[in-house]
Amino acid sequence: MEELSEAIDLAERGRVRIFAEPGELFADAAAAFAVVVQAAVEARGRAAVAFSGGETPRALYRFLAAEPNRHRLPWPRIHAFWGDERGVPPEHAESNFRLARETLFDHVPLPPENVHRIRGEISAAAAAQEYEADLQRFFAGDAPPRFDVVWLGLGRDGHTASLFPGSPALAETQRLAVAVSGPPPLLSPRVTLTLPVINRARHVFFLVLGADKSAVLAEVLTGEPRAQTLPAEGVRPEAGELVFWVDRAAASDFRARRAGAFR
Ligand code: 6PG
Repeated sequence: MEELSEAIDLAERGRVRIFAEPGELFADAAAAFAVVVQAAVEARGRAAVAFSGGETPRALYRFLAAEPNRHRLPWPRIHAFWGDERGVPPEHAESNFRLARETLFDHVPLPPENVHRIRGEISAAAAAQEYEADLQRFFAGDAPPRFDVVWLGLGRDGHTASLFPGSPALAETQRLAVAVSGPPPLLSPRVTLTLPVINRARHVFFLVLGADKSAVLAEVLTGEPRAQTLPAEGVRPEAGELVFWVDRAAASDFRARRAGAFR
């Protein structure tokens, strides 16, 4: 059992699991993922997982590719999607697909036909439409689409997936995936799942590490609802579980604010 520094239940907001050591954090998150995926396969014969991009999940994916997860997880029954993708080809260093392929898919028996890549190499508008059609086909019997797990990270500006502060995508209520502009100054094209899809998931798992995320995480966990300026705060699963795996550095402001609140 990994050494858990603190487990905080935020009532309707979700749960926060704080670890001193990243290795223990990723092992705990991987174990929780395995439980949820196995339950999904038992219940529905498959598990639909939206993987995150960015740097943080790299270590998690390596954990999932290593024992005991390599043999513990029912890879042939898992379907891999993404929360978002950058407007780059699949072999590009910025590609979220490439990140998952290199650290995970190349090391586990996940069938290629189970990988639902967002084609970053075509226009973001076309890729979003194509991805949306793939989602509708895959979830045909499950309208509206409901992921078993959505992995998310947190940007310093409060973005998650590619839902950035002030983005028109934050107000989207019908579409499953949309084309957006990435962060300034490049505003590079991206495709992202929309908040309604994320909030329909059975399990939404955040990974947040590093002191540079401490201020924004405290806002996300304790601030007033304001998805427009703090998109990650808009992640409130309708009937799903929300868990934040956080290291001590990223949890420091949040813990201080909670301590202050109880003084
Ligand atoms: C992406 C991610 C994005 C990421 C955050 C945090 O495509 O970049 O979907 O939402 O999770 O920017 O990124 P880090 O994990 O690199 O801090």
